[in-house]
This record gives sequence, structure tokens and C-alpha cells, in this order.
Amino acid sequence: MSIMYSAVQPSGNLTIGNYIGAVRNWVRLQSEYDCFYAIADMHAITVRQDPAELRRRTLELAALYIACGVDPEKCALYVQSHVSAHAELCWILNTLTYVGEASRMTQFKDKSRNHADNVNMGLMDYPVLMAADILLYQADHVPVGADQKQHVELARDLAERFNSRYGETFKVPQPLIVQGEARICSLQDPSKKMSKSDENPNASVFLSDDRDTIIRKFKRAVTDSDNRIAADAEKPGITNLLNIYCAFKGCTMSEAEGSFAGMGYGDFKLAVGETVADVLAPIQAEKQRLLQEKDVLASVLNAGAERAFKAARKTLSKVYRKVGFWRE
Ligand code: TYM
Repeated sequence: MSIMYSAVQPSGNLTIGNYIGAVRNWVRLQSEYDCFYAIADMHAITVRQDPAELRRRTLELAALYIACGVDPEKCALYVQSHVSAHAELCWILNTLTYVGEASRMTQFKDKSRNHADNVNMGLMDYPVLMAADILLYQADHVPVGADQKQHVELARDLAERFNSRYGETFKVPQPLIVQGEARICSLQDPSKKMSKSDENPNASVFLSDDRDTIIRKFKRAVTDSDNRIAADAEKPGITNLLNIYCAFKGCTMSEAEGSFAGMGYGDFKLAVGETVADVLAPIQAEKQRLLQEKDVLASVLNAGAERAFKAARKTLSKVYRKVGFWRE
């Protein structure tokens, strides 16, 4: 069975971008692949986190994954820091990564700008840790949003570099990016991706937003002065709303355009908001229910870490042998 690896950081409230671009695809893929899905807490601390909040969000993210349909019986669902092999392989891969290539990563440059008072080594090392995550499990595919493509490409380069220096060790992974869903944009500035950390509260729809908030945010979404509901490069706001609608409704772009033909922007935005709120309501209720059962969540995460540890240890032992670390 092919292997799938992906992760989300517990660094803020998840947005519908994270859901559409990542978590929802995980659910689709979990029956066909051997899946490892992680809560990337080690990545999260590359920007400052409040420790108590980080702990709370980690458990909340586990509940949310399951509420979205991730089935811990079908995949290894675990917390990254529970498997120390991630940090260990990251160290080895650091010795194969050039400072120049790490400093050229788009996300590193963006985050350095946004967190100018905390441009730490971890921030630069972020994609190398991500490569370690992926390569440890010999993943074939990595389902991510478009913003992570460059990082998966670095993982491919590092796998090939290691293999050519030390002999065949890592599988070379492929990013899995679904067109139309891979980049959900800000509702206030459709040239930017929707982000957990946007300062404008109307820019992002969070999975935790209640129905009224969701509808209000969609009503305020930036559109244009034209009154045509169509996917068009000249109409990024409308195209983004249509992408969101298709993703949540499960329809094609032409079906969506057909059903909104002749409708005004106000009614269109309301319909998108209602569709999103309808899908999120049962997920939110299930997340709350799961959070009441912290012991069950803890045992799911422990079992996931054990399963992940077994797979990771196999790769790491091989890597240690290949690089020449002595062991009796
Ligand atoms: P994070 O938490 O920033 O994002 C989690 C996932 O959500 C996708 N995403 C989006 N997709 C569509 N539209 C958006 N507006 C949007 N915003 C975010 C991201 O592409 C990502 O797939 N570095 C990863 C976490 C990670 C990881 C890994 C992923 C750590 N190790 C190994 C894959 C493999 C990240 O971006 O997290």
C-alpha cells in the first residue's frame, strides 16, 4: 500500500483553508493509503507560542481531526514531539542542506518579515524538519495546500541528495495538490492566502466560528463592481468564493456558476456562507463531544505515536548506519 504523510501545526485556530487544502483530503485518502497524520507542535514553536495555549490547541486539533472524519483506526494520528526520530533525522538532513537554499524558501522570507524580532534558526530549519517528517515514513504522497509545494520539493531534493551520497535509502515523495482547493484566499484580500494568523478577523473563516459569524464574514467578503458570478482571473474575490462553494457543496465550477446565474452578489455571498456553516456545524458539535473525553483522545494519540515510532525507527536506524554512526 502506498504511504501518505501530512501534518498541521497547532499554531492557531484552523481555517477553512486548512480544512479544504489539507484535512478533508486526508479523510478521502485514508482508506486507500497507509496514512500518517501528525500534529506538528515542533513546527509551531518556530514562532512564539504560549505554552498553555499550545497544549490546549494540540488536544483540540486531535479532536478536530477526528471530528472532520480522520479515523484513528485507519491511520496513525499522533503528536510530532512524541516521536523523537523527527528531530534526529532533521539533524542529519541539516548536514545536507545548504544555508543558501534554506534562506531562499518563500515561507522563511515571509515569516522573517512578519516576525522580524524573532528570526530564529528553527524558522529557517522549518522545511528541513518537514523533510524529516516526510522521509522518516518513506511517504509516497504528501497532501498539502499550494503554499507547501516548495517545501515538499526540498524534501524530494534532500531524499535524492542523501540517496546519491549514501546509497538508496529514502523514497522520493510527491506533493498531492488538488486544483481549485489548494489555495483558499483571504476574504478581505483575495491576492493573499487565507491564514490562521491574519490580523484582520474578517479575512479568515475559522472552523470554530459560529453560524452568524461565518455568514457575516462572507457578507463582508471583498468582491468587485461588476455583477457577474463567474470564475475569472479578473475577478479573484468571486473566484475565491466560488472555489469555497464548490469545495463545500461538492460540485463543479460550471454547476456552481449555473446555479448562481443572474443572482446578485448579496444573495450569492449569503448562499456561500450558509453552505459553509451547514458543513461545519456537525464537525463543531463532534469536536466538542470528543473534547469531553480527554482520556480517549490521549489513548488515541499514544497508540498513534507508537505506530509512528515503529515505522520511523526503522528508517532512522538505516540512516544512522549509512552515515557511519558506530553501534555495536
Ligand atoms: P499549516 O498548519 O500552516 O497548514 C496546514 C495545511 O493547510 C494548508 N493550507 C491551505 N490550503 C489551502 N488554502 C489555504 N489558504 C491554506 N492555508 C494552509 C497547508 O498547505 C497545509 O497543507 N508545514 C505544514 C505542516 C507540516 C507538514 C509536514 C505538512 C509539518 N510537517 C509534513 C506536510 C508534511 C503547514 O503548512 O502547516
